[in-house]
Amino acid sequence: MTTKPVVLLAEELSPATIAALGPDFEIRYTDGSDRAQLLPAIADVDAILVRSATQVDAEAIAAAKKLKVIARAGVGLDNVDIKAATQAGVMVVNAPTSNIVSAAELTCGHILSLARNIPAANISLKGGKWKRAKYAGTELLDKKLGVIGLGRIGALVAARMQAFEMEVLAFDPYVTAARAAQLNVKLVTLDELLAQSDFITIHMPKTPETVGMLGKDAFAKMKKTAYVVNVARGGLIDEEALARALEDGEIAGAGVDVFSKEPSTDLAFFGHESVVVTPHLGASTDEAQEKAGVSVAKSVRLALAGELVPDA
Ligand code: MLT
Repeated sequence: MTTKPVVLLAEELSPATIAALGPDFEIRYTDGSDRAQLLPAIADVDAILVRSATQVDAEAIAAAKKLKVIARAGVGLDNVDIKAATQAGVMVVNAPTSNIVSAAELTCGHILSLARNIPAANISLKGGKWKRAKYAGTELLDKKLGVIGLGRIGALVAARMQAFEMEVLAFDPYVTAARAAQLNVKLVTLDELLAQSDFITIHMPKTPETVGMLGKDAFAKMKKTAYVVNVARGGLIDEEALARALEDGEIAGAGVDVFSKEPSTDLAFFGHESVVVTPHLGASTDEAQEKAGVSVAKSVRLALAGELVPDA
């Protein structure tokens, strides 16, 4: 009997992922967010598939004696220790475009929710209260949207919010003036963006430079009527500074999908009515999960067959 290579699914992945892996592997399951389950489960597998809840850090990589591939069914790689993987000769693959539309659409949903108080009004009405004046909102027409990070997702958000006739400003040192002009976006400095925007949305990767990028100093530069949205990565907003800025009336509200520590269910700023929170749903659509799962399953197949894995 020949033994099949083992693929460990450490998080909930779409049925299409398993179908795309095909019959050539032994598939095992574990809860990657639980270290006590992950470390023994990873010990003798050839590949591991994760989303964002599994920390594939140096300790996990060291425990994985046969590991050849770490596959991240999503965009970011901040939960994978790339250096430790490289040192151990383990390939890392992801699906960089799989969920960009879903993340952009959720961002737009947060902007609209904040502008029109939809979540708070919904809770109030279902609680038996008819409060039309309390939940009066603001139009998006002619308001300024500041996009921090005009990469794939930031550009999709800009295009979608332009349909509401918002004026889009962006801060992104890596974007050329020609690209910004093509997107009909005005490139500005970060300080100009913070000072002028009515809505600010951040679409940056999580790196030592971007952690806490929207903190005390940034909130102090914003309009008192500004709303801030983070559907990118937990930690880009300093959560304590956000709670204080809301408390002190430095900004009007925030829409937050990602948190420094996940899961998080009771952070200080959750108490504000002008805050909308969702539990890391940016990539959680059927379409994005199918695209991400199929893309990384194909990469795992190629990598375990010793074939070249093309850039996704
Ligand atoms: C991503 O980085 O693509 C998402 O965070 C994936 C996920 O939701 O797990």
